[in-house]
Amino acid sequence: MEIKIYDNAEQIAQEVGEVFIEAINAKSSIVLGLATGASPVPTYKYICEKYREGKVSLKNVTTYNLDEYVDLPKNDKNSYYSFMHEQLFNHTDIQEDNVNFLNGNAEDSLKECADYDAKIAKSGYIDIQLLGVGRNGHIGFNEPSNHFTKGAFKVKLTESTIAANSMYFDENPMPHYALTMGVGSIMHAKKIIMIATGKAKADAIAALVNGEVSPACPASVLQFHQNAVIYIDKDAASLL
Ligand code: F6R
Repeated sequence: MEIKIYDNAEQIAQEVGEVFIEAINAKSSIVLGLATGASPVPTYKYICEKYREGKVSLKNVTTYNLDEYVDLPKNDKNSYYSFMHEQLFNHTDIQEDNVNFLNGNAEDSLKECADYDAKIAKSGYIDIQLLGVGRNGHIGFNEPSNHFTKGAFKVKLTESTIAANSMYFDENPMPHYALTMGVGSIMHAKKIIMIATGKAKADAIAALVNGEVSPACPASVLQFHQNAVIYIDKDAASLL
């Protein structure tokens, strides 16, 4: 695991954006695992800018998003489906058929999760997985627990996650359940890039980097990945 510390989020966006663009341009097709939340937004903005400048095309990119809320309409403004279209997909030439999300409205969530894992495997697994980290150390929506998860599953969100994300839900209450890729699937990615900025992430980053590998801090499992790079700003690095 490699740690890279930057002055600000813009520098991280440029660095990570260039890693993605180089990887996309180097392969005839590529499979990306994508995250929502505030952390990747500047990177998505950077990639959109480079797309407009003709420096990259997402035509042959396949994506799998990490997670989606349960029982939230697909087109709700707070769904991760809407988020990804607003922040990235609508501004590029990505093909809608190549964009994959867990369906939080599936009647049979077990089958939905198994099908998602099978589709990722059929795509040849994820080339680059982008991650943020929760203040409680979650990755995807793998909340702190007493075991590491393997494939995708339905999760009850913790109070910490609900407190962190409910600011986005002004009208309706935030869902308390989500479907998420499992830690095993995330670890299967050939390369993992994590972005974390701000003081609120300092505890999680310290536990991830210096703590023991434990499902009590799911992100700590990245210590065991052969090709994981953690991009953080000085505030997120302040407890290292
Ligand atoms: C989002 C996701 C979450 C976020 C994490 C950090 O798809 O899987 O693990 O990455 O909650 O969120 P932000 O970046 O909003 O601080």
